Order: sequence, then structure tokens, then C-alpha cells
Amino acid sequence: MVTVANKAGLEGISAGESAICQIDEEKGGLQYRGYRVEDLAEQASFEEVAYLLLMGELPSHQELQAWKRELDYAGFLPDPIPQVLRLVPATAHLMDTLRTGVSLLGMMDSEANNPSFEANVHKATRLIARLPLILSLACQSKQDKHQPISAGTCAENLLYLLTGTRDKAKAKELEVSLILYAEHEFNASTFAARVTASTWADLYGGVTSAIATLKGPSHGGANEAVAEMLVKIERPEKAKAWVLAALDRKERVMGFGHRVLKLEDPRSVIMKRRAKALSENMGEMRWYEMAEIMDQTMQEEKGLLPNLDFYTAVVYLLLKLPIKTYTPIFVTSRVAGWCAHIIEQQANNRIMRPRATYIGPPTREYLPIQHRSSRGTIGPGISPPDDPVLN
Ligand SMILES: CC(C)(COP(=O)(O)OP(=O)(O)OC[C@H]1O[C@@H](n2cnc3c(N)ncnc32)[C@H](O)[C@@H]1OP(=O)(O)O)[C@@H](O)C(=O)NCCC(=O)NCCS
Repeated sequence: MVTVANKAGLEGISAGESAICQIDEEKGGLQYRGYRVEDLAEQASFEEVAYLLLMGELPSHQELQAWKRELDYAGFLPDPIPQVLRLVPATAHLMDTLRTGVSLLGMMDSEANNPSFEANVHKATRLIARLPLILSLACQSKQDKHQPISAGTCAENLLYLLTGTRDKAKAKELEVSLILYAEHEFNASTFAARVTASTWADLYGGVTSAIATLKGPSHGGANEAVAEMLVKIERPEKAKAWVLAALDRKERVMGFGHRVLKLEDPRSVIMKRRAKALSENMGEMRWYEMAEIMDQTMQEEKGLLPNLDFYTAVVYLLLKLPIKTYTPIFVTSRVAGWCAHIIEQQANNRIMRPRATYIGPPTREYLPIQHRSSRGTIGPGISPPDDPVLN
């Protein structure tokens, strides 16, 4: 057995082959199916990039139009999904609502258990069209209901659904972030999706595993944490002292560091440039100035560079997107990458079943309960629930 126990978090371990995304800091930076993310972010649409991830090639004009029609056609939530989601408590985390929404979509889809390439692409298309609708339904009151813009792009629709704003230039900023969020090799959520898919569980199961995994603050949750931090800091003059105090307390400053990208996150470079230009265009420099000071302080103090989440939070604050939607927005984009990985996994599948290096007690004799002495604790600290619903 090959042992990787000394590699906490499987750092640096290749867990399989993939033709979807290449991260090579020394050679080409970050590429989706051989295309540099810099080129895709500046020149492609999110729809083209999602198509590239799923199908392996950039679409022709005709192919793109046909796929956009499919996305438009799928752009509604079948009954009773809206009715069921309206029963979700208002206090629910939006990521949990998205996860539940995807489960419901799976239950309603007659193709759910068909693992063919064609069926999986159809399901991926429906998810890309419908996740923004689940998100908008989850965060709107009944009075404040937006429908998708007819023939709008994914980014235009998302901006409109979440803020009521119709603005092509602002939608382009959101679109760049969607392109950069769409895929990143064997990150934790994608790996979770592939493990699920490797059992021949259906695509919806893979995506729900992925959403649950992305929620964590060490992964997708970081973009919301960055915005909350910027709001708390309030003014550029306070930014440096805030970072120094956080580091003194040995806290992690959200939006910095990356398991794989140790030199520079090319996505962050792009978002920094976009955040600066957008701040200048809007005449609102406060968030950007604050972020730049924090960035510089983190480099000086820890040698750590910002990741994609850091300057994306500046752009999202400027676009007036509600902070609680940031990680769910990440879902609406990364779903393209997750589905591409599920399709790739099932095209050449073997169930993922690694081994563990056992570090527990050695073999011991079973003692009947009447012969065991008490260790002074009662169970694992279980107390009856307060909530009568749970009783
Ligand atoms: C992304 C992340 C989870 C990578 O973790 P990792 O590869 O396991 O890195 P480690 O946890 O081993 O950190 C290595 C060192 O850098 C420090 N470090 C890493 N990220 C840090 C951060 N954001 N703020 C302060 N210190 C940080 C650690 O404290 C550690 O220092 P030490 O060696 O003195 O103990 C980590 O950098 C992090 O928590 N970042 C903040 C959350 C975030 O932005 N996530 C989005 C990722 S795209």
C-alpha cells in the first residue's frame, strides 16, 4: 500500500488524471482545456466557457446559439419546486437551500439515473439554467420577484435576479468572475463530486456533495468572509492595523493563501485589475483602496498573496450583490466544472476507494457491559433537544 499519511490534506498528491483544467505555475498558469484563463476572461462569454468545459471544445457560433436556446428553454423551475422551497425556513443558509433545490431537481428529472454523456450534458444544462432561479427564489420576498430577462446572458440574468439591475457593463464584471470561478481541477468540492460520481450515483448527487463541500469557509465561503471583513473595517485608514491585529491573534485573513497556487493566483490578478477599473468608473474607491492596503500588508507580513475570492469581493460589493449570495453565485458558475468532472469520471470510471493508515488502539478483548468501569462521562454529551419540532 502506498502511504500518504504524512501528506496532511493530501497536499501535492495527484488523485487521478483529468483533461479539463491545468494548473502549472511554472509553465502556462491556469488553463481550461488548454485555453489560458486570461484569454477566456477577457474574450469569451460564460456560456462559451461552460460549453468548453462540458463538451471539450469551444462552440461555433451555431453551436453556441443552439446551446443558449436550450438554456433559455430550461430557464424555469418545474412545480412543485418553488412551492417546496418556499417552505424552507427564512433562516436557512442559502447554500443549504441550493443543495436542497438540486436534490429536488434530481427527483423531478426523468433522466436523473441515465449516466450517458448526452443525458449528463442535458442535466448540466438544466442546472446551469436553474441554479440562479433557485438562488433568486431563496433570497427574495414574494413582493420582490424578478423573472429572468428574455434572451439575456447568464451573467445579465444573475445580476438582474439578485439586484434588479439591468446593466451590460456591470454584468460583464460579474461574468468575468463567473468564468474564473467555473473550474479549478481537483479542489475539495470537485473531488467530492468525483468521489460521488465514481459510485455511479447520479449527477445531481455529485452536485449536492459538491455544494455541501463548497460551503466551508476554507473553500467557497471565503468570498463572503472577505466582504464581511471589508464592511467591518469600514475605511482604508483602518485596514493595515486591522490586518496586523488579526495576524497577532493568529487568525487567518480570508481571501489570502492557496493550497496549490503559491506564486500568484492569475485569477486574482485579473479580478484586481477589474476591481480597480470598476471602482474608478463608479467613482467609489473605498473598497479597492482598503483591499490594496490589506494585500500589501499580507505580502509584507506573511508573504501571502490574494486568491480569487479577495478582489472578487470588492467587485461584488460594488455591484451591490447581497453578501449572503456570494458563495451561491460561485455555485452557479462552478456547477459547469463539477458537471464536466462528473462526466469525465463516469467516462472512465473505477470506484474511488482509498485506504486509511490505522492509528487507533491495538487489538483488545471485548468486555461485556457489566464488567466495564465508568470513565466519569455520560455518552458523548447528548442532551434532549429544546426544539419541540425535533422531539
Ligand atoms: C486556502 C487555505 C485553506 C490553504 O491552506 P493550506 O494549503 O493548508 O495552508 P496552511 O493552512 O498549511 O498554511 C500555511 C501557513 O500559512 C498561514 N496562512 C495560510 N493562509 C493564511 C491566511 N489566509 N491568513 C493568515 N495566515 C495564513 C498558516 O497559518 C500557516 O502558517 P504557519 O506555517 O506559520 O502555521 C489557507 O490559505 C486559508 O485558510 N486561506 C483563507 C481562506 C481562503 O481564502 N480560502 C479560499 C481559498 S481559494
